[in-house]
Amino acid sequence: MVPPFHDLTSQPLWLLLPSTLGFFILLKHITALAKWVFILLLRAPKNLKNYGSWALVTGATDGIGKAFAFQLAQKGLNIVLVSRNSTKLKSVSDKIHANSPSTLIKTIAFDFSGSGLDGLDEQLEKEIRGLDIGVLINNVGVTYPSAGFFHEVDEEVWMNVVKVNVEGTARVSMAVVRGMVERKRGAIVNIGSGAGIVVPSHPLFTIYAATKSYVDQLSRSLHAEYKMYGIDVQSQVPLYVATKLASRVASIERPSLFIPTPDAYAKAAIQRIGYEARCAPFWAHSVQWFFSRLAPDSLLDAWRLSIGLKRRGKKLHEELI
Ligand SMILES: *[C@@H]1O[C@H](CO)[C@@H](O)[C@H](O)[C@H]1NC(C)=O
Repeated sequence: MVPPFHDLTSQPLWLLLPSTLGFFILLKHITALAKWVFILLLRAPKNLKNYGSWALVTGATDGIGKAFAFQLAQKGLNIVLVSRNSTKLKSVSDKIHANSPSTLIKTIAFDFSGSGLDGLDEQLEKEIRGLDIGVLINNVGVTYPSAGFFHEVDEEVWMNVVKVNVEGTARVSMAVVRGMVERKRGAIVNIGSGAGIVVPSHPLFTIYAATKSYVDQLSRSLHAEYKMYGIDVQSQVPLYVATKLASRVASIERPSLFIPTPDAYAKAAIQRIGYEARCAPFWAHSVQWFFSRLAPDSLLDAWRLSIGLKRRGKKLHEELI
């Protein structure tokens, strides 16, 4: 009769050690896969109204920000729209009203790229005083008008990227988090980028990529810092989304399997609010992220460099978002 299993101790050590190790590595991957499927398909999204009755969205008149604003209004939140163009603010506000008639909307025209951001947090805090802001979508962000070597980029251009992405993100978070601390609840979502997190480098968009790494670290530290106040801070990492910003960085014009529309992206992103310190909300993006981790850094560096070089000097005259 064949025994049901061999006595493990009778196996030589050289075989036992690697197979045990292999078993645990496999277990780790299977657990990660199961968790991924659970989060995507089964986990209930948070009821965002429990954070407060208003959401504030920056960069709210285009792309991802606009899609967030529409969908948060559909979920029953009142919306503060922050963007630089008052004509566009009016038009987006009207469209949200048409779509969700009971939504209260406040618009704040503010140009992050304009004059200095000194006092922005105090000014914004004054504007939103008395509003129960539960959700902040900190989406405003700019990049270069075209790819360029570090030493080629005009000071005005790179300083603007630093100002908007670094200082702007911090000041908006600061303005909103003060009220959240008092109310002991809130969710802050900072929109990063795969450029600063998923790929090991993003040559010829260097300062842009560096500011997005900053957004990620800022968010993850705030996540740990404010948990005790009931505030859930999250770094969300989009890869390509079919927006104007993406069309500048990477010639992305049309949506595809790996390039969602802003609406599809925002839908996935809203489901994740309040959970992980960092996530790539769109499923196909997380697949890309997984595979990019298997590739050697040198290969990814070469790939990004070739893209940067191809985009170099190609000036696109779209409006910054
Ligand atoms: C604001 O947006 C409108 C509509 O898109 C555009 O016509 C106008 O030029 C913009 N204004 C500024 C100051 O960018």
